[in-house]
Amino acid sequence: MLRGIILAGGLGTRLYPLTKVTSKHLLPVGNEPMVFHSVKQLTTAGITDILIVTNPEYVGDFVNALGSGKDFGCEFTYRVQEEAKGIAHALALAEGFAGGSRIVVLLGDNIFETSIQHAVNDFQAQQHGARVLLKQMSDPKDLMGLGVATLNGNHIVAIEEKPKHPKSDYAVVGAYFYDASVFDIIRSVEPSARGEYEITAVNNAYIDHGELEYSLVEGRWVDAGTFDSLTEAHQILLNSSDYQ
Ligand code: DAU
Repeated sequence: MLRGIILAGGLGTRLYPLTKVTSKHLLPVGNEPMVFHSVKQLTTAGITDILIVTNPEYVGDFVNALGSGKDFGCEFTYRVQEEAKGIAHALALAEGFAGGSRIVVLLGDNIFETSIQHAVNDFQAQQHGARVLLKQMSDPKDLMGLGVATLNGNHIVAIEEKPKHPKSDYAVVGAYFYDASVFDIIRSVEPSARGEYEITAVNNAYIDHGELEYSLVEGRWVDAGTFDSLTEAHQILLNSSDYQ
């Protein structure tokens, strides 16, 4: 059985003062708190064991908003990331929860117009390794703030984090699928120049082992971390027939 992990830590400084009293992931998007979207992505894909990772300041707000999981038909576990040292650092806290199972990891600020079920199916059909979700972006400026994949035919040959000169228009979005070896890989990762344990370093380690596959995002996608993209996320969910 796949287990789900929603990473919802970090400080959300780009959305200040909206994030003065609570987490970015609890701000309204569509008609609900943002994190509900990630929860529903997982439950509609049949994933009902879900870990929420967040920071010490806001963990109580998450418990108030989400509860046990009864209202969502799932079961929540909560873990606190003491310091925002990166996505891979937050994911390391999920090792005990994963208990050797394969995992689906969602960044709690990523909003998808349609279900990611197809990518979950692709991962379930995959024998080993990891999978990422790619989105072809129309504006090259957007790529400079994201992970960008270099493709050779059907293969990802490298991922660059926030490149100054993106080598393709395929962004690596915040939905990752890993086998149990991800936690050993995280232990081998060094912090980046910005001092974070990067998920891109983890994904590049899978590429080095010849074990990173990809699926494509269907429909619109946005990382709702800024005022403009939060507005876009709002429009996507209000107009999506999958999430009325
Ligand atoms: O949105 C997709 C992008 O997300 C990818 O294309 C990039 O490769 C990936 O590095 C990431 O980039 P961001 O700069 O957008 O990541 P950000 O710091 O905004 O964190 C994204 C989510 O991860 C956020 O919703 C909360 C969670 N997070 C982040 C950090 C740094 C944690 O739970 N703990 C953390 O320490």
